Amino acid sequence: MSLGSVLEMTYQWIKAGHVIFVIFWIASLFMLPRYYVYHQESVPGSVEEKRWIDRERKLKSIIMTPAMILVWIFGITLATIGHFWADGWLSAKLLLVLSLSGYHGYMVAYGKKLARGERPMSGTALRLMNEVPGIATALIVVLVIVKPF
Ligand code: HEM
Repeated sequence: MSLGSVLEMTYQWIKAGHVIFVIFWIASLFMLPRYYVYHQESVPGSVEEKRWIDRERKLKSIIMTPAMILVWIFGITLATIGHFWADGWLSAKLLLVLSLSGYHGYMVAYGKKLARGERPMSGTALRLMNEVPGIATALIVVLVIVKPF
């Protein structure tokens, strides 16, 4: 096997890892605000509320945050090996991914408020917020696959 094909194969494996953790990250970003909606429908201080706090904590610490970190590590590696840093589609994608990471941080912070007994957002507002990762994912996938610029 030549060095070129070893590099090519390595690149494909890293890309597979990238997409696997993208799926874990985005799936948990879809789930968390849903959990918050159910959480907010539970009686404050009830056993049910405590269960939601526990589920939210596990989803964030076991799946969502590690997946986000791995998506970043694999993505940066792909951009470096593939010499994509100067491409317009990657800059646009990075802007969207940075916003999505900000959304992630916002949702984690919201969970801390909920765990303290605060419920600042309405169920409708949370349901609307839940649309953000779907829209961002659609735009990001078009950018990385179609590479329109
Ligand atoms: C965290 C920062 C990220 C960076 C730096 C990054 C960078 C990259 C790069 C350089 C590629 C390889 C493109 C190619 O080989 O043509 C790639 C592939 C891909 N990325 Fe990302 N990415 C990031 C996050 C994301 C996110 C959040 C999503 C989805 C929501 C995503 C979805 C994909 C998909 C589906 C592919 C495979 C495309 C293909 O096979 O042509 N990436 N990414």
